[in-house]
Amino acid sequence: MTIAAALAEAQQVIGRLEARVLLRYVLRCDEAWLIAHGDDDLASPQSAAFGVLIARRAAGEPVAYLTGHREFYGREFVVTPAVLIPRPDTELLVELALQRLPANGGDVLDLGAGSGCIGVTIAAERAQARVTLVDASADALDVARENAQRHAAANTVLLRSDWYAALGDARYVLIVSNPPYIASGDAHLQQGDLRFEPQSALASGTDGLADMRRIVAGAPAHLAAGGWLLCEHGHDQAEACTMLLQQSGFAEVFSARDLAGIRRVSGGRWPPS
Ligand SMILES: C[S@@+](CC[C@H](N)C(=O)[O-])C[C@H]1O[C@@H](n2cnc3c(N)ncnc32)[C@H](O)[C@@H]1O
Repeated sequence: MTIAAALAEAQQVIGRLEARVLLRYVLRCDEAWLIAHGDDDLASPQSAAFGVLIARRAAGEPVAYLTGHREFYGREFVVTPAVLIPRPDTELLVELALQRLPANGGDVLDLGAGSGCIGVTIAAERAQARVTLVDASADALDVARENAQRHAAANTVLLRSDWYAALGDARYVLIVSNPPYIASGDAHLQQGDLRFEPQSALASGTDGLADMRRIVAGAPAHLAAGGWLLCEHGHDQAEACTMLLQQSGFAEVFSARDLAGIRRVSGGRWPPS
């Protein structure tokens, strides 16, 4: 069977775009090569490997777990089923963090690092920053470590911790977090890609805010005067998050909208003493 015929068959099952992504992955080629070699025969080991991937995707497995990669903020991140697949929405959090990071860098904390997409990106974009990436999952930290190495982010430290528990009295100019924020009974947890992602990265108590409460409550003891806390949250959680920040004494509390116009990140500044 030719490459073009294999693609035509696969796109009936999983759609054109994903069929091409998976075949490029199997053939280790780019899109231009795929277009130019449509009439080539697909060797049988590659045809078999492609068939397995199509079946797994048809059964619901996310493409990023099948290929082991996802692009985030212009960089390729390794992903495994131990980590949340980085979302484009989260680039807003990185953008807001970079805007607030002092020119001379400073200490940054990424709570719930997962693949490391947030903390590693900040470290890679700002060589003068020192970024501590925290996660409760040792398996997630292994992935974050691989991504830090991949992007030569030597200005990173990885730490296994239940939120702030292992941080002692360290203080940061910036704390960023994309914590679990889905209500534990939410039906979406049993649908689509979410079924395959770690529940510990997604669900957070009956209202989705259990971890957010802990992160906001613990931040004042770990922020330098004038430092910022920035958190990503659910599409309907901006009001609850800004209220938590105000109740904890934060100033300059705000919410920022993602490209779809949804208030997706909220933050505040710990008042200068
Ligand atoms: C929504 S994922 C975010 C991953 C990554 N930062 C991203 O944006 O793609 C939340 C992460 O928080 C971690 N986590 C959950 N509970 C935690 C806790 N108590 N302490 C530290 N990390 C925790 C999970 O293991 C998961 O990696």
